[in-house]
Amino acid sequence: MPAILIDGRAVAKDWKEKAAVRAQEWVLKGITPHLAVVLVGEDAASQVYVRNKENACRKAAIRSTVIRLAADCTQQALEQTVRELNADASVHGILVQLPLPKHLDESRVLALIDPDKDVDGFHAMNSGRLMNGQRGFVPCTPLGVMKLLEAYNISVQGKHAVVIGRSNIVGKPMAMLLLGANATVTICHSRTQDLPAITCQADILVAAVGKAGFVTADMVKPGAAVIDVGINRTENGLAGDVAPEVADVAGWLTPVPGGVGQMTIAMLLSNTLDAVQMHGI
Ligand code: GUN
Repeated sequence: MPAILIDGRAVAKDWKEKAAVRAQEWVLKGITPHLAVVLVGEDAASQVYVRNKENACRKAAIRSTVIRLAADCTQQALEQTVRELNADASVHGILVQLPLPKHLDESRVLALIDPDKDVDGFHAMNSGRLMNGQRGFVPCTPLGVMKLLEAYNISVQGKHAVVIGRSNIVGKPMAMLLLGANATVTICHSRTQDLPAITCQADILVAAVGKAGFVTADMVKPGAAVIDVGINRTENGLAGDVAPEVADVAGWLTPVPGGVGQMTIAMLLSNTLDAVQMHGI
């Protein structure tokens, strides 16, 4: 039986509608939720992502401000921008779009963001909170994956979850969230030996590799929930990290596009409204 396709668009739509209701409640109290996005340079993919974030904010009645800095901007200028946003009481959430141009020190910039405005959840304070099982901002993509699993009643407790990828944005926080939900978690990466032997044990397999079609059908346990976080630009358009034939083996599969990607923005709206709530009390 072919896999059940997980409809990220539909689940994200529900979350975006919830965000719009929450935003409206703040507006009625005289507070306009406000997300500030810092975009450095002209990276084509980043421009698309930022435009999508702006559009989603507009639809949810969340104010968004995009601060565009030139590709050759100095570390000092970027840090000054973040400091000003930290100090601006009208700004509830701050996001610095990644990747930054190579001459800029990403970790220093992320460390400067006020952890209470860090709607991306990339500040060490928030990754530490996630690791310690404390409340804090959780990175949007892995948070969105958890919401998709919940929406489809895919149980996590006691299951073997395998995450391929160890980035700070997806792989590591994804593993922590699955662990927090009582899965047994394995993190695999480019140096992992005999990867298929491990992925074939996965009840839940999350692919965050950045290589089109990397996960093939022989790497998947029949009936597994396969979550494809990849968004790869190929000659034939967008492709995930999971090869299409995996649909014949998996129990559930997220399509690309229309799967995880939609959830990332929905979670950004949700995190921004959480930030308003933190400031409003
Ligand atoms: N670049 C790719 N994904 C993300 C994300 O979730 N947040 C930010 N700030 N940059 C990204």
